Amino acid sequence: MPTLISGTAVAEKVLAECKAEIAAFKARGITPGLAVVLIGDDPASRAYVRSKDKKCKDLGLHSVKHELPTTTTQAELIALVKQLNADPAIHGILVQSPPPKHIDEAEIVRTIDPAKDVDGFHPVNVAKLALEDPTGFVPCTPLGCQRLLIDAGIETAGAHAVVIGRSMIVGKPMALLLMAKGPGGDATVTVTHSRTRDLGSITRQADIIIAAIGRPEFLKAEHVKEGAVVIDVGINRVEAPGTEKGYKLVGDVAFDEVAPKCRAITPVPGGVGPMTIALLMQNTLKACRQIVPRLSQA
Ligand code: GUN
Repeated sequence: MPTLISGTAVAEKVLAECKAEIAAFKARGITPGLAVVLIGDDPASRAYVRSKDKKCKDLGLHSVKHELPTTTTQAELIALVKQLNADPAIHGILVQSPPPKHIDEAEIVRTIDPAKDVDGFHPVNVAKLALEDPTGFVPCTPLGCQRLLIDAGIETAGAHAVVIGRSMIVGKPMALLLMAKGPGGDATVTVTHSRTRDLGSITRQADIIIAAIGRPEFLKAEHVKEGAVVIDVGINRVEAPGTEKGYKLVGDVAFDEVAPKCRAITPVPGGVGPMTIALLMQNTLKACRQIVPRLSQA
């Protein structure tokens, strides 16, 4: 059987590192702060935002949650982001994606101060990732996937990594991280997506597969070579009649048939999900570390 890469366990490790740094900040009279903004009432987004807020509070971070109605206007949202940019108690800002259709998300992202953009979505941070500038912010989910590979001792240097999905939140930054120089990088990267011809012929060449498709149990045994490492980014709600919630969470990988072929694989839940929140905490501390010296010199 394959090694199960436990995101829950590695996330605990990341959070323990965060706790030590938070204690050091507090000893200097500084409490790192994160503001999370949610527009609308999508149940999955609400659940993510609540768990982010809870994790912040558990760690002793200053956490501010703005839950706004679907009718919130672009101008109101811009005004809130500007207010958070100017707030010295806030070091990180996250606007939950996707917002309602009438919101121009790109404009909102460009309004966030890049120094507080803990999601790594601002064009300045996208450029810094491409440039391998360590002062930038990298999106939390791909950063979490890379940390899982590093902690599980998976050699990425020279490996063929195939990323399935080209989103700005996961696929694109994941590809950039895997091809960057250094630990968890130096891979040969192929990016595939919904228009890729004969996907299986490419994924079967992969030493490492990052599945970020957003379709439940899409990746089957036939797509995977023997001994591959599979990181499943998907968190899909599928109906499960008779269960308490009425749904269950499944990944983008058909776990039961893919796992026996793998050298290592992440489960869902308990894989990438807890890592995303842990890396958000880590990014918030990085923002605080970079902002505080700037303020004390002012
Ligand atoms: N929606 C799904 N994942 C994310 C994320 O990492 N950040 C934000 N802002 N929205 C998301």
